[in-house]
Amino acid sequence: MSAHGEPIPMTARRAGPLKGVAEVPGDKSISHRALILGALSVGETRITGLLEGQDVLDTGHAMRAFGAEVTHLGPGEWHVHGVGVGGFAEPEDVIDCGNSGTGVRLILGAMATSPVTATFTGDASLRKRPMGRVTDPLALFGAQAVGRSGGRLPMTIVGAADPVPVRYTVPVPSAQVKSAVLLAGLNARGETVVIEREATRDHTERMLTGFGADLRVGETEEGRVITLTGQPELVPQTIAVPRDPSSAAFPVCAALITEGSDVLVPGIGLNPTRAGLFTTLREMGADLTYENEREEGGEPVADLRARFSPDMKGIEVPPERAPSMIDEYPILAVVAAFAEGATTMRGVKELRVKESDRIAAMAAGLAACGAKVEEGEDWMIVEGQGPGGLPGGATCATHLDHRIAMSFLCGGFASKNPVTIDDASPISTSFPIFEALMEGLGAHLSRSNR
Ligand code: S3P
Repeated sequence: MSAHGEPIPMTARRAGPLKGVAEVPGDKSISHRALILGALSVGETRITGLLEGQDVLDTGHAMRAFGAEVTHLGPGEWHVHGVGVGGFAEPEDVIDCGNSGTGVRLILGAMATSPVTATFTGDASLRKRPMGRVTDPLALFGAQAVGRSGGRLPMTIVGAADPVPVRYTVPVPSAQVKSAVLLAGLNARGETVVIEREATRDHTERMLTGFGADLRVGETEEGRVITLTGQPELVPQTIAVPRDPSSAAFPVCAALITEGSDVLVPGIGLNPTRAGLFTTLREMGADLTYENEREEGGEPVADLRARFSPDMKGIEVPPERAPSMIDEYPILAVVAAFAEGATTMRGVKELRVKESDRIAAMAAGLAACGAKVEEGEDWMIVEGQGPGGLPGGATCATHLDHRIAMSFLCGGFASKNPVTIDDASPISTSFPIFEALMEGLGAHLSRSNR
């Protein structure tokens, strides 16, 4: 059930082919960062194409609570009047980050080196997720955190009054942890150095540079070394948020598995740290092309064209590709069920600490739909049954996880029998127009469990 209301059961069934243009919303990762960096600069940042999903709206509320002015001007159009690095005021109330791990972890970083105290909470999913991965490095700056057992929310952070810069090697491949440390480093005098052994999404680095921070990236034997000079004056920006590749994944994959489909998904951000799914699908034999490749706002962008692909073959997904498609394994697992042969996904332990345990959720739901799935601590193998092969006819538990919800619904567009999910309400966290957009392409969704 969503934190904001009753669960919404939803059923997807086979209908006609999916055809048309799918205009998916703005990138969630970039939207969070645009609001936070806007709040940390002095003056007015203008944003267009902002994702108006609940996760991002919650980050906007948080930025207001820390003293920034956040104004909604029209669809996707927002202005943020920032307070500057080190300028956060103390919030009067608890900050509720809803379902968003990215929101809370980035904000923890952004406030940890200011002399303010704040308490954070979230929904039942977020309250289960580990925060120690962020509060451990923030303690090195001098911030103190007290949360529930296992470092879980609700949690109070006392920001460091006199922060020292840190040198930190991120122990898990996580853009959220990297970003939290960089955002904290903004208000520490001197150089903060973050080292990541595996490259993760680099939107924070790109955007910090765009806002005028002195940030250098070097590739060394240790990995990717990011050096940030503290206490810059960030300069407000005009940001056009590209459309989200992680949301594009759903109409793209639904088209690949649904007979007769041909869908164009325009203006999708194809930052190499995000585009691993599309590479994987093409290796599987998907009829997926990039049209009109260009650059927008410092990010590579293209129009994606996906057509029904009855000849997809299962593959072994290279584990080193995992960070660039970490949010896309649930929908890949669905596509794999419609390919010939096994698709092996290894090195995906991080999936166990997302909005839900995504390995367990996908394995259980796919098995209920008649797919052959095996799982281990950090792997999952889906044995495909070819085009149209997923039997379906089950109700899948979504565990407050938007991507699990959308993945099973996409499976239902092509499976022999309808697929029901117990709760579609979390979809609004990242893709509030999912239902209307998919129906516009010809999909059949109904808000009931029949
Ligand atoms: C995100 C990073 C990823 C991803 C999440 C968004 C970000 O998490 O799963 O949806 O915007 O930084 P991790 O960095 O924890 O892997």
